[in-house]
This record gives sequence, C-alpha cells and structure tokens, in this order.
Amino acid sequence: MSKSLILDSVCKNFGGVVAAQDVHMEVPAGRVTGLIGPNGAGKTTLVNLITGMLPLTSGSIRFGDDETSDLSAHEISRLGFARTFQNIRLLKEATVLENLLIGFHQRETSSFLSCLLGLPSSMEETRRTKQEAMGLLQRFDMTRFADFPASGLAYGHQRRVEMMRAVASQPALLMLDEPVAGMNDVEAQELGEIFKSLSQQGMGILLIEHNIRFVTQICEYLYVLDGGRIIAQGTPQEVVTNPAVIAAYLGN
Ligand SMILES: Nc1ncnc2c1ncn2[C@@H]1O[C@H](COP(=O)(O)OP(=O)(O)O)[C@@H](O)[C@H]1O
Ligand SMILES: [Mg+2]
Repeated sequence: MSKSLILDSVCKNFGGVVAAQDVHMEVPAGRVTGLIGPNGAGKTTLVNLITGMLPLTSGSIRFGDDETSDLSAHEISRLGFARTFQNIRLLKEATVLENLLIGFHQRETSSFLSCLLGLPSSMEETRRTKQEAMGLLQRFDMTRFADFPASGLAYGHQRRVEMMRAVASQPALLMLDEPVAGMNDVEAQELGEIFKSLSQQGMGILLIEHNIRFVTQICEYLYVLDGGRIIAQGTPQEVVTNPAVIAAYLGN
C-alpha cells in the first residue's frame, strides 16, 4: 500500500544545460521529504520529470513496482501523483469551491452521464464530495472564501486553493513547488503543520523550497540540489551543518 518514489541515476539535459545529473532520491509514503537548492539548481525540472511533463535524458523513476518514466503524464497522474506549480494555476473565473471540485473530479467513479441523469449513485457521490470539500476548506481555514472567485483572493489564499485542489484528489504522492514563497512566517508555519498532518495520514510529500529555515522545521529528510546534482542529504541537522551546503548557499 505505502509505496516509495525512487529516482535512480536521473539525468536531464536541455541542449548544453545539465539540469539533472545522476540524481538518486527516495520519497517514501508517510514522510515530508524536502528538496532545497539555489535558484536554477534543477528542482522544478525534477518535478517535471517525475510527473512526466518532461522526458528523461537517462535513468529511471519508479513508484512501487511501476516504472513511471515510460508512462504519459496522464497515466502517471492516475497512479496518484498530484502537484502544485511554482506559478499558481487556477481557474480564475471559478469560485474557490469550484476549483476544489475539479480536484475531486479526478477520482470520481460515477460517469458524467449518470450525474446528468441524477442517478442515486452519483447523487450520493456528489453529496459526499461536497462534504469532503467543506472538510478541506475547514482544514485550510478557507471556509469563508468558498463562494469567492479565485481571482479575487490574496496571493497566499490563492496558493491555498491550489494546495487544496491537489490534496482533494487524495494523492499517494504530493509535490509542492515552493508552496510558501512570498508568505510570512506565520502563514508558512500554518501550512507546514498541514503538510505534516497529511504525511502522518500516509501521504508521501515532496516539498520544494528555496528557504532553508522553513524546510528544516517541516521535513524529516532533506536533499540539497546544486547545479543539477545532489550535493548533500540527511536530516535537517546534518544538512545545515554540511560545509558543501553552506558554500552553495553563500555562493562560494
Ligand atoms: N524547459 C526548459 N528548457 C530549457 N532549459 C530549462 C527548461 N527548464 C529548466 N531549464 C534550465 O534548467 C536549469 C534548472 O532550472 P529549474 O529546474 O527551473 O531550477 P529551480 O527550480 O531549482 O530554480 C536552469 O538552468 C533552467 O534555465
Ligand atoms: Mg523552480
């Protein structure tokens, strides 16, 4: 049931640019794994490779027994992968609740036709979905915004909508690309606690961050990427005292 994501010797070149070089990583279920590194280190590229948005140059990616590097992005998302983007992608005209329902839609079993016909199975499902959506809104402290258009929300709240939408699909693996960028410490901490509680319920979480201080508070295990290579890994304590990490962050 609880599967790990494994990256094995992953390489990615963009023409002459080496964005990933021999990357080995493991993102297990039930843990928040951090991926940090300076701008341009290759963090977003790794998420694009994991989700099948970009093809690998070489290497392999597995989720449990499934080799995912040969699958399409759509097939990969059906394995239970969800992500948020560094630049928010929401349906701006839609309300917060409608944006959330898109996330739930991914795992609905009743057909669109049975929904149209209002058959009991789909009515029951719709009721349940709505209830779960309200639960998520509560968890993210967003209930009061349910019927607001997403475009009218402050930046931090739009980010929460994106996260709720990703969580709504009940992913086995959730990847968050700089989810708290631009937020203050209090907001970031609140979200961090939500990420931890989701992982405690069994979700595997890959948290990408630029800000070292935040990840060290939230993650149990960290990878540090620089110039497409993993230059350090370990517990937050091990990583922040590693001279190679200090050098990468101070630009030496
Ligand atoms: N689609 C792309 N085409 C060409 N180069 C890219 C592409 N995506 C990323 N890169 C390059 O790969 C490197 C890593 O970028 P990225 O993964 O966005 O880093 P990070 O998310 O750590 O800031 C950068 O040099 C970037 O310019
Ligand atoms: Mg990035």
